[in-house]
Amino acid sequence: MGVVRNLRQVSADDAGVDIAFRADVRAGLAQRQKAIPARWFYDATGSALFEDITALPEYYPTRSETDLLARHAANIAAAIGPDRAVVELGSGSSTKTPLLLGAIAPAAYVPVDISGDFLRDSAAALAAHFPGLPIYPVEADFTQRVALPREICPLPKLGFFPGSTIGNMVARTAIDLLRNWREALGEGSLLLIGIDRIKDIAVLERAYDDPAGVTAAFNLNLLERINRELGGDIPVENFTHRAIWNDVHARIEMHLVAACDMDFTVDGREYRMAKGETIHSENSHKYGPRDANLLLRAGGWTPIATWDDADPAFALILAEATEFRSAP
Ligand code: AVJ
Repeated sequence: MGVVRNLRQVSADDAGVDIAFRADVRAGLAQRQKAIPARWFYDATGSALFEDITALPEYYPTRSETDLLARHAANIAAAIGPDRAVVELGSGSSTKTPLLLGAIAPAAYVPVDISGDFLRDSAAALAAHFPGLPIYPVEADFTQRVALPREICPLPKLGFFPGSTIGNMVARTAIDLLRNWREALGEGSLLLIGIDRIKDIAVLERAYDDPAGVTAAFNLNLLERINRELGGDIPVENFTHRAIWNDVHARIEMHLVAACDMDFTVDGREYRMAKGETIHSENSHKYGPRDANLLLRAGGWTPIATWDDADPAFALILAEATEFRSAP
């Protein structure tokens, strides 16, 4: 099974430095409110730490979503129907995929992930689990425009976007992504998406600031990664992890907080941070039922079914790329 590679999206310079990582860190550290996109958490160490997060008692989203898929498998399968090509956005090392594939009798499976290694491993594991199922892995950044394998062209499609990863994007970016994927998958396609709900603030903040400190390590690893890959000398021990609910934006924000005044160098440039200043490292937006439906409709997807849990609140929403009508 070959991996379909899209236009080089992981490109390195002569020294092997990821060009996009360097550009994002440079631009992000130059801002008044320093900020680095959350996608850079996931080097090998960060991906392993994220796996540890999903096993924490406080981090409910993975468990809630897996439970919903398992409990409602028959209903979900009935709503989706058989013989679709399932296109998974950011497949990673998902344990949810077999639950979905086992329930719906798909015609093909297309995992899309930026990490070729992850793709190969998880595609091989799935192939062993579902012998007969054609699998066409695509190595690409799903936030960019992705060319899908020719083989699935004639098939009806189901986009699968679990993990509430859409929450990492601000509304405008989320809507752009939904519209791009509506275009790529085509009218009549379905989308099954995981969305984390607004809930008790203490529950939310604990999910992103666990007492064992795993999320803190995950956040701080971003600084280690910068030091490792971009020749930085950031004094990581002088930073602390902060996760707070921003009610205006309805999101958890993660920050790296400077515990004292400091100077450091990254990639040949000098930076200065004052005590209390932060680097904003992640947004995790949460959506009420109507918010979620509005977001989907703005992205060109009409919600047709919702499976949700009340405590802790999490939702799986099925939406359809229906014909666009501008008039009532
Ligand atoms: C699975 C990427 C959506 O925002 O909940 C977990 C990432 N960050 N703990 C999330 C994450 C801190 C996670 N996503």
